[in-house]
Amino acid sequence: MAASAKILDAEKPVPTEDWTIVMPRRGKKTRNFNKILIPGQQREEKPWTPIDFETDPLRESKLMQKMQICIQKLENSEFFHSFLHQMQNPDMLAMFLNVLGPETKMVMVMYGIGSIESFEPPRLQLSLAVLMKRNFDWVGEIEVFDPIISLTECKVLTSLGCRVLSINEQGRREALKPTLFFMPHCEADLYDNLLQVNWGVDKLNRIVLFGNSFEAYEHHVSVFNNSDLVDSRKHILAVRRFTKEFIVSTFSDDFFRAFHGSSWHFFGLNPETDLQTLDDKNYIIA
Ligand SMILES: C[S@@+](CC[C@H](N)C(=O)[O-])C[C@H]1O[C@@H](n2cnc3c(N)ncnc32)[C@H](O)[C@@H]1O
Repeated sequence: MAASAKILDAEKPVPTEDWTIVMPRRGKKTRNFNKILIPGQQREEKPWTPIDFETDPLRESKLMQKMQICIQKLENSEFFHSFLHQMQNPDMLAMFLNVLGPETKMVMVMYGIGSIESFEPPRLQLSLAVLMKRNFDWVGEIEVFDPIISLTECKVLTSLGCRVLSINEQGRREALKPTLFFMPHCEADLYDNLLQVNWGVDKLNRIVLFGNSFEAYEHHVSVFNNSDLVDSRKHILAVRRFTKEFIVSTFSDDFFRAFHGSSWHFFGLNPETDLQTLDDKNYIIA
């Protein structure tokens, strides 16, 4: 995968030379849902457009209003204050600075946000990303992708300062520069794709990953001990021994659905680390 995919400009929802837009047949609602992934099979990266080409200013402004309310609710919450406090604690701050190195900005790539129009957890997750950018000057541009987002959602994301990608990278963004991957509640195969394409010391060391707890994945596999499960998560399991994980605490019911089971992950690897070897539990990395 190239370092970054094309950006969808929501102001111009028209075909460009790189896009083939297939209009849905009248009355038949088709979406850009991904095919079911058979373990071991890789999904292709492909150009993407939202399926609904028409957007309505009223719908957009209602969604924008919902987002503003959500941002405000989160900003005034105890959960957010504790989240900021955690990000600023010396241990974690040192990790962020380590990933940044000599750079001043870390791009944020947000995969799997879900529908901000239909559900509150995605709105809260997006609000958290927006507030992180407002609070930390080292948080750079926010790039967003989820195959299910609508054109209305693309427009609102753009108004909030995000860029919507026009290629489904299948989570395979190479970290050629410091990158914060914000992937709340994504499926395991998306985290695994990300780790696989970045399977090298330099690239892993340029990544900060917010997403489902890798410790919980390891625990789950140890309980169920199923080979398909291991196979679809082998990079997650193999990277565990190099991972410093900080659990995000969701003590309030209001924010539980949006953030439960989430952690920050950092991979501080030594330059000599040999990633091609087996790890202690024999999770083989090809
Ligand atoms: C379990 S849902 C989580 C949605 C939301 N973050 C939440 O917590 O409610 C996983 C999301 O990942 C999205 N997804 C699937 N494949 C993806 C891909 N290749 N790139 C980005 N997002 C993807 C799905 O469309 C879905 O919205």
